[in-house]
Amino acid sequence: MNQPENVLVTGGAGFVGSHAAAFYDKKGSSVTALDNMSRIDTLDTADGSRDTSAYNWEYLKEHHPSVDLIKADVRDQDTLEEIVEGHDAIVHTAGQVAVTASIQDPRTDFEINALGTFNVLEAARKVEADPAVVIASTNKVYGDNVNKIPVREENSRYWYDNPNYEDGIPESLSIDDCEHTPYGVSKLAADLYVQDYANRNEVDAAAFRMSCIYGPRQFGNEDQGWVAHFALSTLRDEPITIFGDGKQVRDVLYVEDLIRAYDAFLSDPEGKSAIYNMGGGANNTTSLVEFLDLLEEKTGKRTDISFDEWREGDQKVYVSDIDRAREELNWEPTVDFETGIENFLNWYQDR
Ligand SMILES: NC(=O)c1ccc[n+]([C@@H]2O[C@H](COP(=O)([O-])OP(=O)(O)OC[C@H]3O[C@@H](n4cnc5c(N)ncnc54)[C@H](O)[C@@H]3O)[C@@H](O)[C@H]2O)c1
Repeated sequence: MNQPENVLVTGGAGFVGSHAAAFYDKKGSSVTALDNMSRIDTLDTADGSRDTSAYNWEYLKEHHPSVDLIKADVRDQDTLEEIVEGHDAIVHTAGQVAVTASIQDPRTDFEINALGTFNVLEAARKVEADPAVVIASTNKVYGDNVNKIPVREENSRYWYDNPNYEDGIPESLSIDDCEHTPYGVSKLAADLYVQDYANRNEVDAAAFRMSCIYGPRQFGNEDQGWVAHFALSTLRDEPITIFGDGKQVRDVLYVEDLIRAYDAFLSDPEGKSAIYNMGGGANNTTSLVEFLDLLEEKTGKRTDISFDEWREGDQKVYVSDIDRAREELNWEPTVDFETGIENFLNWYQDR
């Protein structure tokens, strides 16, 4: 195992990226965080008190002053190549993150997610330092194939009604011949490039097909980051709209557990797979309505809820089968949902 010495984090002002930057800074690596600071524009609720990219950027400045912060865009290949030079590891989290925005503006979504990732891989292939790369992919690459697995309705949740999926969705589930969304497709294109570059030994790279990641310093809204959105809305006494019946189930993974999985790959990429399903797994799941109950238990509050139509591309149940990550990365989620949510609530109250 080799600890990466020089780590580049794209999307370093984002939720996942800023945690990755903080993690490697704490471990003693030299860290560069790159971001175009666009996230704030995509949040229609953004205002001075709710800045997202800016918040995490300022957080890094204050708590991790040795992290080198660079404003740049992953769509700009030449600049990216210059920045990548000298790094032996890249955590690529920069992305257009919302399904809704991808439907409104699929070109921008494609350019950031597909072309941006391609640029990162090309830069990694060309530079002398030969960096290992992890890419923040998504469970949305499986598209509607997930919804072809029968589910049964229980009291407060849906669950797979097929014993083959009791442990969740494995990497072998088909990714095509089904409906997707532009976001799912742009991420899938990126994910396939990762596999191609990895399998042809051009770059030591892996796509982590992430389910629901949550934790402190996450600013969710209706379009993305529902755990943070529900928690923040509850704390702020703001109403929540649930699309569908709220019995949708997700596996939830605390962000620091995710970063440990990235690190397990980056520290020792030799012989590893090019894709990993990544989430809390079957032992860490919640439905939306179950989460509202947990929030009430922790905060003593329940905000106003209304229901609307199901959204395009939504999955009734998505749970990651994390066996491959367990075995190959010698990794396991360590933070249970209740503890993780307490950490989130404490962070918000302390800020
Ligand atoms: N959070 C989750 O639950 C989750 C789940 C699955 C996949 N993902 C993926 O993980 C990654 C990180 O997600 P997050 O939750 O931290 O989102 P985030 O919005 O907090 O972070 C993304 C960051 O990328 C930056 N960015 C966007 N376009 C850019 C560009 N062209 N050049 C440079 N920077 C750019 C944004 O400004 C933002 O700071 C994304 O790629 C997302 O698709 C996240």
